[in-house]
Amino acid sequence: MTTADRRPRVLSGIQPTSDSFHLGNYLGALRQWVALQETADAFYCVVDLHAITVEHEPKALRERSRVSAAQLLALGLDPDRSTLFVQSQVPEHPMLEWILGCETGFGEASRMTQFKDKSAKQERTTVGLFTYPVLQAADILLYQTDRVPVGEDQRQHLELTRDLAIRFNGAYGRTFNVPEPFIVSETATIKDLTEPEKKMSKSSSGPRGCLYLLDTPNQMRKKIRSAVTDSGSEVRYDPESKAGVSNLLTIYSALTGTPVEKIESEYHGKGYGDFKGDLADLVADSLEPIAKTTKEYLADTAELDRILAKGAEKARSVASRTVAKAYKKVGFYPPVSM
Ligand code: TYM
Repeated sequence: MTTADRRPRVLSGIQPTSDSFHLGNYLGALRQWVALQETADAFYCVVDLHAITVEHEPKALRERSRVSAAQLLALGLDPDRSTLFVQSQVPEHPMLEWILGCETGFGEASRMTQFKDKSAKQERTTVGLFTYPVLQAADILLYQTDRVPVGEDQRQHLELTRDLAIRFNGAYGRTFNVPEPFIVSETATIKDLTEPEKKMSKSSSGPRGCLYLLDTPNQMRKKIRSAVTDSGSEVRYDPESKAGVSNLLTIYSALTGTPVEKIESEYHGKGYGDFKGDLADLVADSLEPIAKTTKEYLADTAELDRILAKGAEKARSVASRTVAKAYKKVGFYPPVSM
């Protein structure tokens, strides 16, 4: 195959840090993961190495990695078309991270806003949390990635990844593809349902602010119905002065494919109550099948682990070539194959 007819390479990752993904993960990133497997050579990774940068419980971590993989399959990732794997099964990730860490400036890493936010919330901040974005860069550069489908909160990490690729290529000769972020602007940041000035997040949202894909339909309906709306009653998209309603319009539009203006006109003259009631049903109906299919995948963990091992093998066959190249460039002995 020539470079011209190579399908674009896509890579992305998600942390197994909670018992369920949330609506922000889904609309901001995971939907794009599923769509991109049609046109791209896609690699998707449950990033458990990243998950130990904050306190964790080993048994829960292994279980959450499985539940994460099961959810990804339930959302429609097809292991015959996409390479789905767990990061810890591919030792090339920390191997490349070490090399990239030695190219990263201390000041450059200190400017990462996610590090500043997360470390401010920890009693004890680790070096691992500090170098988290370097490991993320390794995840991406190992696969000669063209595009990285993520939400807006990952943009700064992708800029660092690009800078590191360009710097390394400049110093040692072309080694890495320089990746582009793939961020869908409409759903780039799904907001917390109760504090719509913040992004929806497993770690900083309260129990009603974050809607989980594995919530029961009843929980989902309750969360949407109790979502904060703004003073006034008009269903209108205006993120500045009507952040709550605008977030709900974004969710409605993303789940139905209906343009926001059309939804506004459908609810013209009706109040927030009607709109939220309909959205509550829409969210519950759209997401309910995910929990059921996730459970089915989790009922056969041997098969699930087999899918992941196969994915890891495929990932290693690509990643090991990049590591061998980078090792040679920096003057290391070649890695002995395992
Ligand atoms: P993580 O696990 O926090 O989130 C997974 C994906 O979900 C997106 N996302 C959102 N999108 C829109 N609105 C929201 N409220 C929202 N919350 C989360 C994230 O942008 C992300 O795309 N550092 C990454 C994991 C990672 C990675 C990688 C990503 C590790 N290595 C390599 C891409 C490539 C993270 O913590 O994502």
